[in-house]
Amino acid sequence: MNKKITRATVRGKILLSGEHVVVYGQPAIVAGIDREMVVTVESSEQGFLVVSQHRDGLGLVEESLRRLNIDPETVRVTIESTLPVGSGMGSSAALCAGIIKAGADYIERQLTDREWFELAWKAEKKAHGNSSGVDPAAAVYGGLLWYVRGSELEHLKLKTTYSLLLVQTGKPKESTGEMVAGLSSRYKKQETRCKQLFTRIGKVTRQIRVALEQSTSIKDLVDENGRLLEELGVVGEKAKILSETLRRKGCGVKIAGAGGVKKGSGMMIVMHDELDTIHKELLAGDYPVYPITVGGV
Ligand code: PMV
Repeated sequence: MNKKITRATVRGKILLSGEHVVVYGQPAIVAGIDREMVVTVESSEQGFLVVSQHRDGLGLVEESLRRLNIDPETVRVTIESTLPVGSGMGSSAALCAGIIKAGADYIERQLTDREWFELAWKAEKKAHGNSSGVDPAAAVYGGLLWYVRGSELEHLKLKTTYSLLLVQTGKPKESTGEMVAGLSSRYKKQETRCKQLFTRIGKVTRQIRVALEQSTSIKDLVDENGRLLEELGVVGEKAKILSETLRRKGCGVKIAGAGGVKKGSGMMIVMHDELDTIHKELLAGDYPVYPITVGGV
């Protein structure tokens, strides 16, 4: 048997604004980050084997292979990743997008980006249930995206870059699917209140887009989005306490993805006018911190 091997590299993401409400049709702004996942698909005579630093507890590798009609028993899949699992950095979507890309190359099937995105989204739904598609869009298209469910996405080209910190508030106990389902059941009980919050978050997301395009500060708007997400019930106590401490120091703070309430809330975006000072303070504390940059042409 001729050995065949294909490889794809995909990136993670953070949501600058609009997580959760994007499921209900509001816009989101998602930014690709320079943490990546490399997926290799190769022929295997030993049967299906996944070699991974990334725990695939939901069977997304198999699901993605089946979307391409690849019999999992015929391949070995290797996943190398610097993306933490379940921390709001899009690792599930990156996994699906990576397998679809490497898998399509493996069977020599040409995919348009749109087809790649659709297949990755279908596979990712196994993990997220009612997914808006924003995470697979980020994995497939990269860069800084304006995403509205069911509409053409837009690439945002910025003249400037924005530096921020990602602070790990702890791995959430809940999956993204559970967080989305939790909000859905609150929505059924408190529709008016939830709709008001969705509209307010949508408005902030639009204001963030304007600020990004005008190269002005987004710190206070990101913080407003962060507070509204707290009201929406997707941020846990530990992250809220940290947020208040950071806000007292002049930071803008919000979770970077689905959040979590029982334990950690995943990665949190922290912005400040003097970011280096805050960075040093955080490095001396208990929370892992990663500086990142978004935007730029
Ligand atoms: O991948 P996460 O955990 O950052 O969450 C994705 C964003 C959500 O809005 C919570 C869900 C979705 O499908 O849009």
